[in-house]
Amino acid sequence: MVLEIRKLGEYVGAEALGVDLSKPVDEETQRVLNEAVIEHVALVIRDQNYGPNEFVQAASAFGEPMAQNFTKFTCKEQPLVNYVSNKYKSAEGKRVYHSGYWHTDHANRDAPPKYTTLYALELPDSGGGDTGVFNTRAGFASLSRDWQDKLEGLQTVNSFRGTSKTAQSFKVDVSDKLIDDVPVTHNLVRTHSDNGKKAIYLHQGKLQKFVGMGSNESHDLVSEIFSLIMKPEFVYRHKWRLGDMLIWDNRQSMHQAYKDYDLKETRTLFRIIIEPEVP
Ligand code: SIN
Repeated sequence: MVLEIRKLGEYVGAEALGVDLSKPVDEETQRVLNEAVIEHVALVIRDQNYGPNEFVQAASAFGEPMAQNFTKFTCKEQPLVNYVSNKYKSAEGKRVYHSGYWHTDHANRDAPPKYTTLYALELPDSGGGDTGVFNTRAGFASLSRDWQDKLEGLQTVNSFRGTSKTAQSFKVDVSDKLIDDVPVTHNLVRTHSDNGKKAIYLHQGKLQKFVGMGSNESHDLVSEIFSLIMKPEFVYRHKWRLGDMLIWDNRQSMHQAYKDYDLKETRTLFRIIIEPEVP
């Protein structure tokens, strides 16, 4: 097998073919894959076949897998793997559709994960259930100088429960043991530790407010920022095939799950978050 990287979009997205990450790979293969996810922000590794342990092996090519916030959804055989599934129900017995808004992962932590990876287990029969990855490095670069300067002066206050109406975390009992919910502050504009580029770094659901602003004013500003930076060409919309491993760089992106399918059908994926880094 020969590893090949193919671009899927002008600003975001690439696919890797000819590699099996269920077993350890050599340093050169790791280097090429790591460079590809940093350059293209989202990378699909095709034709994989994983159980939970193989998925941890595959994720390890990009760094150290970390424990996740939602311990309730942890895979029993392999605690570094979580299930992302619409089978989970709220206290009222209704299905909860997580991640249906743009966010970066675990921004309530001091050292959030560099990468998140998903592997599809069960996809909606009638199609859909896509995952979007939005290149916020391109979003930041597209702003006027005045807006860039304004945003560079801002810091976000983040907590597990957040305050946004978009957040789902409080709708289901997501942790076996309630995690400490100490607010964490991050710069809204993050400089990437590998490529030195600046990007918007934001989790809408975990955002309480910007430092020095009220909650409503902060969420209004978030809407304004989105209206400026969100352009279709900055989004890679992944149409899942069984065997796909999708990985993205949280330091320079936001992602979301599209509710673009028959919501009575089941959608279940494995998820791993990778390599803590203080922004
Ligand atoms: C996530 O936000 O980590 C999951 C996205 C998805 O379900 O497509």
